[in-house]
Amino acid sequence: MNLAIDELTAPALADEGVCSLENYLAMPDHSMDGRIAQARAKLGATTVVLGHHYQRDEVVRFADFMGDSYRLSQNAAATGAKYIVFCGVHFMAESADVLGRDGQQVILPDLNAGCSMADMAEISQVEDCWEALERAGLADETIPVTYINSTAAIKAFCGERGGLVCTSSSARAAMEWAFARGRRVLFLPDQHLGRNTGYAMGIPLHEMAVWDPWALQGGQSKEMLAASRVLLWKGHCSVHQRFLPGHVDQVRAKYPGIQVIVHPECRFEVCQKADALGSTERLIALVEQAPAGTMFAVGTEIHLVNRMAKRFAAQDKRIITLDDTGCLCTTMYRITPQHLAWALENLVEGQVVNRIQVRAEVKRWARVALDRMLELR
Ligand code: 13P
Ligand code: SF4
Repeated sequence: MNLAIDELTAPALADEGVCSLENYLAMPDHSMDGRIAQARAKLGATTVVLGHHYQRDEVVRFADFMGDSYRLSQNAAATGAKYIVFCGVHFMAESADVLGRDGQQVILPDLNAGCSMADMAEISQVEDCWEALERAGLADETIPVTYINSTAAIKAFCGERGGLVCTSSSARAAMEWAFARGRRVLFLPDQHLGRNTGYAMGIPLHEMAVWDPWALQGGQSKEMLAASRVLLWKGHCSVHQRFLPGHVDQVRAKYPGIQVIVHPECRFEVCQKADALGSTERLIALVEQAPAGTMFAVGTEIHLVNRMAKRFAAQDKRIITLDDTGCLCTTMYRITPQHLAWALENLVEGQVVNRIQVRAEVKRWARVALDRMLELR
C-alpha cells in the first residue's frame, strides 16, 4: 500500500506509553478485537500493520499485509505510512527500519519477540570468523551472505564486504549472485538453509564446511577452509530442527500418496525426503496449485499449518502437521492482541511505544545488503 506520510505527529519515544501495558495483559483476547479495529480506523493511512504467516489468527487478522519475510520486506520498503507496526520478530522490524524512509517509525508490539536463530550469530563472532579467513588468505575470494534472520549489524557486515541478505525464497538467487563474484560463500546463520540451497545448486556436501563459533578456529583447519565452497555458520531454527526424517517416514506409511512439503530451515535429511521445499509463501502456493483431494503433511510453524488446514478444507485438500506434537515459534507467539491494541491505542494518543531504531552507521551498509536482495528479482 503506498500511502502518503500525513501530518499526524508523535512525541519522542515513550517507554510505557500513556496507556500502561499491564492493564491490557489482564484482559481476555477477544475483548481486544473492537479496540484494535477502532484504533486502526482512527489511525487510517498513517499506519500500516504488517503480519508474518506465523502470527496468531487473533493478531494477523488485523494486518494490512501478510507475507513471508521477503514480501514483508518489500511491503516495508514500499509503504508511505508514517508508522509501521510489525507483527513479527525483532530482525523483521529492524529490516523494516533499515528499508523505511526518513520520518517513518517502526514498532514491534512486544520487544521480547526475538528469534533464537538470529541469536546464534553475534557480530563479534562473525568478525572473528572473517579474521580467520583473512589470516588464511581466503577473505578476498569469499562473499558473505546472511539470511534475513540475523541482526542489522551482521547485515551491515555483509553489505560492507560485497555481500548481501537473502530470505528463504531468495537464497538460491543470492548464492548465485555471490558465486558470480567469489569462489566461496560464507552463509550465516542457518546451516540448514545454506546446506539445502547449496546442495540444490549442485555443490556436494563435502565441499560445505561448518564454522562453529564456539570452537577454536571455528573447528576448521586452514586446508578445510580453503577446500570449502560454502562455509556454513553453525546456527539453526529451533522450531524447524524438530522435524526429523522419521516423521516423513511415519506420515508416508500412515497416509500413502501424501505430499510432504517443508520449509528449507528443516534439516538436510528431512528436506531430502520431502516432495518439495519452500518459504512460507511458497508452501501456501504449493497447496493452492494442487488438485482437489490432495493431502499434505507440512513441516513448518503450527499457526501457519493450522490456518492452511482451515482455509484449504473447503477445496477438499487435507493438511496435517508433519510432527503432531506441533512446532510452535514461541517468540512469534509473544505478539498478542493485547500488545497490538496497546501499541495502536498509544499511537492514537500520539505516543510511540517499542520503537525499533537501527543506528545510522549500521543502517547504511545494512541497507546496501538488503537492497542487493530486493534487486535480485
Ligand atoms: P519465511 O516467511 O521467509 O519463509 O521465513 C520463515 C521464518 O522462519 C521467519 O522467521
Ligand atoms: Fe526464528 Fe525459527 Fe521462529 Fe523463524 S520460526 S522466527 S527462524 S525461531
